[in-house]
Amino acid sequence: MAHHVCPWWMGWFLASPIRRLVHNPRTILAPYIRPGMTVMDLGPGMATFTLDLARFVGPTGRVIAADVQTRMLEQVKKRAAKAGLLDRIETRLVGDDDSWAGDLAGKVDFALAFYLVHEVPDARAFFTLVRSTLAPGGRFLVVEPKMHVSARAYAATVEAARQTGFAIVDYPKVPRSRAALLEPR
Ligand SMILES: C[S@@+](CC[C@H](N)C(=O)[O-])C[C@H]1O[C@@H](n2cnc3c(N)ncnc32)[C@H](O)[C@@H]1O
Repeated sequence: MAHHVCPWWMGWFLASPIRRLVHNPRTILAPYIRPGMTVMDLGPGMATFTLDLARFVGPTGRVIAADVQTRMLEQVKKRAAKAGLLDRIETRLVGDDDSWAGDLAGKVDFALAFYLVHEVPDARAFFTLVRSTLAPGGRFLVVEPKMHVSARAYAATVEAARQTGFAIVDYPKVPRSRAALLEPR
């Protein structure tokens, strides 16, 4: 499978209001979030889900939006400021090593990787890192696009999650997608 990073301009389409008709953040994500949580939005693009996550965690929670592209993160900050949510959204640039997440070990209550894992070169290393950030009882929702990720490729992704210490607790229904809710075993 090719691992290419989504071009920055795709962020505009992915975060458009039309997308919300298919991927409604309230339907898909609200069941997992409670006020005060620390949430990690991995590969947020231009804040497709970040602002809603910030609304769900409320003023006592925080959202860490981590992306490999500065242009995506600039838009996340801009949109967070416009929505008055900058105080609870932090952006982080993902680099070549895991140091960007060094202070998050055991602190994240919920992590989201929406349409991201197929862009990651080493899924096992990625799952290992996310697992290390999860707090006790923390959960991780992985959603992949059916259009780009075959059933077979998705099975390999789920297997990588299993091999790195995750249990699959649910296969939520997400339109046009393959999704799994993970918990550390
Ligand atoms: C297809 S976009 C999905 C954006 C958003 N989650 C959505 O569903 O609209 C993938 C995003 O993941 C980012 N990305 C790619 N590899 C990454 C990595 N290893 N860590 C964090 N973000 C990454 C890309 O820059 C891009 O913003």
